Amino acid sequence: MKKISIFVSGNGTNLQRIAEYFANDPEVKIVNVVCNNPKAYSIERAKNLGIPLRMITREEFKSEAFTQEMQRLDLDLIVLAGFLWKIPETLIKAFPKKIINIHPALLPKYGGKGFYGEHVHEAVVAAKEAYSGITIHYVNEVYDSGEIIFQTQVALDKDETPDSLAAKIHRLEQANFPVVIEKLLKQKD
Ligand code: GAR
Repeated sequence: MKKISIFVSGNGTNLQRIAEYFANDPEVKIVNVVCNNPKAYSIERAKNLGIPLRMITREEFKSEAFTQEMQRLDLDLIVLAGFLWKIPETLIKAFPKKIINIHPALLPKYGGKGFYGEHVHEAVVAAKEAYSGITIHYVNEVYDSGEIIFQTQVALDKDETPDSLAAKIHRLEQANFPVVIEKLLKQKD
């Protein structure tokens, strides 16, 4: 049995998709959802999906006690699915190559502090890029700079808007994120 924890800050479409993808897989269990934002729609989703929810404050998140709490869950993978806080060093050290993030652009472009969600798509459209895409990568101490596991791209149309690009990127995320997670979990057998 592989155990994963999913960290979220917002809407939670990736959380929903991952949970549905593994719903009938007895080998994979989402043991909890960790959320830092009391207004996140992800909270409703976690409740509806019947997954234990752990709300965190910034203080708690940085604490040794939180890292130990996560260690006690005996996790195979921590999945950042639209989670917007920087991961503290103590957690990264406790889970080497076991924390992954999805980023809605082709890193190393359009990454780093401030580049999240729609801000990324606005910048990509403003720069008239021919392509954008998604990057799934390991998490290290520096925002959006860990080893890349998977990327795939999509072309921008002439009249692309940040909203239309966001929809394209969400489709790529929905199609690919659970599959990449599954491959990583199976590699760890
Ligand atoms: C996703 O597009 C994800 O790539 C992005 O936030 C969105 C969350 O959507 N993550 C980042 O920008 C991280 N820097 P969701 O809450 O509906 O899954």
